Amino acid sequence: MRVNHCGEVCAQALYQGQSLTSRDPSTRQALQQAAWEETEHLNWTERRMKELNGRKSLLNPLWYAGSLAMGVLAGKLGDDWNLGFLAETERQVESHLDSHLKRLPMQDRRSREILEQMKHDEIGHAAMADRLGARKLPLPVRLVMKTSAKLMTTTTYFI
Ligand SMILES: [Fe+2]
Ligand SMILES: [Fe+2]
Repeated sequence: MRVNHCGEVCAQALYQGQSLTSRDPSTRQALQQAAWEETEHLNWTERRMKELNGRKSLLNPLWYAGSLAMGVLAGKLGDDWNLGFLAETERQVESHLDSHLKRLPMQDRRSREILEQMKHDEIGHAAMADRLGARKLPLPVRLVMKTSAKLMTTTTYFI
């Protein structure tokens, strides 16, 4: 749950960064709507983490800063790339949530419910980005994103 919580901290930063620099008003509005849902995700994961007597990752401020910078940068590249980055991020989050759901005990209904709802929302965010004209990111970029996500999830698991 700490990893999921950290992911949602990053989602906050990414969306904030992206809506700061994106130009098109309809893109901006869509980003803000998604950002609001991400706030919900952050609350759910934080609450669940407390219920499980977990603690937040100490690296959160670091990931937050990095994600904010990435969001600002993506926004500066123009709306089509910005949305492309968003769509790819959401797809990777979805597959992370999927693999987490597979490892999570069936009895842990509360956690499962949260992850299922988040997965549903993230799919919606990716679809929204596609609808607004997301560009498909080049393979090397997608691989770099996968690698950094892997680094984030593994370190956050422990720290
Ligand atoms: Fe989320
Ligand atoms: Fe999302």
